[in-house]
Amino acid sequence: MKALYLETAGGPESVAVREVETPTPKAGEVRVAIKAASLNHRELWIPRGQYPGMVLPATLGCDGAGVVDMLGDGVTGAKVGDEVVLYPGLNWGPSRRTPSKEFGLLGMPGPGTIAEYICVPVENLAPKPSFMSFEEAAAVPLTGLTSWRSLMYKGELQPGETVLIIGIGGGVATWGLAFAVAHGANVYVTGENDQVIENAIKMGAKAGLNFNEPDWRKKVMPMTGGVDVVIDGAPSPSFANYVRSINPGARIVIYGSTAGNEFKVNATDIFLRSATVLGSQVGDPQDFRDMLAFVDKHKIKTVIERTFPLAEAKEALLYLQDKHQFGKVVVTI
Ligand SMILES: NC(=O)c1ccc[n+]([C@@H]2O[C@H](COP(=O)([O-])OP(=O)(O)OC[C@H]3O[C@@H](n4cnc5c(N)ncnc54)[C@H](OP(=O)(O)O)[C@@H]3O)[C@@H](O)[C@H]2O)c1
Repeated sequence: MKALYLETAGGPESVAVREVETPTPKAGEVRVAIKAASLNHRELWIPRGQYPGMVLPATLGCDGAGVVDMLGDGVTGAKVGDEVVLYPGLNWGPSRRTPSKEFGLLGMPGPGTIAEYICVPVENLAPKPSFMSFEEAAAVPLTGLTSWRSLMYKGELQPGETVLIIGIGGGVATWGLAFAVAHGANVYVTGENDQVIENAIKMGAKAGLNFNEPDWRKKVMPMTGGVDVVIDGAPSPSFANYVRSINPGARIVIYGSTAGNEFKVNATDIFLRSATVLGSQVGDPQDFRDMLAFVDKHKIKTVIERTFPLAEAKEALLYLQDKHQFGKVVVTI
């Protein structure tokens, strides 16, 4: 079969679409003929060698949707022909609060989704929402799940509350916007330019601030009236700009470190507001089911920026690196 393959960590330019052995499902696994996969930042970090527990060579990708085409021994609850979307994690473990030490994602160290076939435990299958194309469904898993858990499980967002979403052009952030609007929250955003803020307003945000404007911190309170939940994948430049505009009892959920790893916290900003700062990592299988049920109920559509055929998967990765602006980059197979 063909797959997006990485032999040595020589940067995103070193990936290639090539022939690899077609997998056969082990006991308890199913084989899925992938119809579409989507890209995330980790598919840029892995070729740069910036990913824990690297095992090379590798096939890349953790997001995928397709059709079950072969069952391993002992599999129940799935049949050949099922249209599915894949839970992107493996070995979450028994606790809802935190993943086990063995937790990982498809596509490192194990095989990835940007391939004609992948074998996964049957528990990783969820029905593809019927109103979605394979491309739309493939754009859901990692960013949708990360966003859902940050906003709903960790952030405990309630209808009528005010949420601030940082860096609205990103995959996690755009899902957060869609979820929060459908949940009945008042949604405000920051973005890198006026165009992404306009896009967000079209999706239901009330207003936004350009984070490249030097004084945006002064505008957060007048714009929002006070924030109950923040989801932030870039706290290094952003945290200090909104923390004085949070309401008592606010939940600030950090899910990424785009634009820098360190940020300064003023203790009084947190304890005098009884605020909570939380970290959030992907999501468990229950979050995945809850999120898909919500997506199905509200018929939430994925924002796809561009699709590429598998033969151009390397170009898709370079597009994510150099040109990506708003929504997901998808590879069709
Ligand atoms: N916790 C987890 O399990 C988990 C899972 C998936 C991803 N992540 C992390 O989450 C982050 C975003 O992932 P993604 O897939 O959504 O990425 P993405 O689609 O490429 O988006 C990049 C994000 O960074 C924002 N950004 C860049 N520079 C910024 C700045 N100076 N100030 C504020 N925001 C800035 C962008 O905002 P604009 O578009 O407005 O520029 C955008 O939201 C990454 O760090 C990724 O590693 C974490």
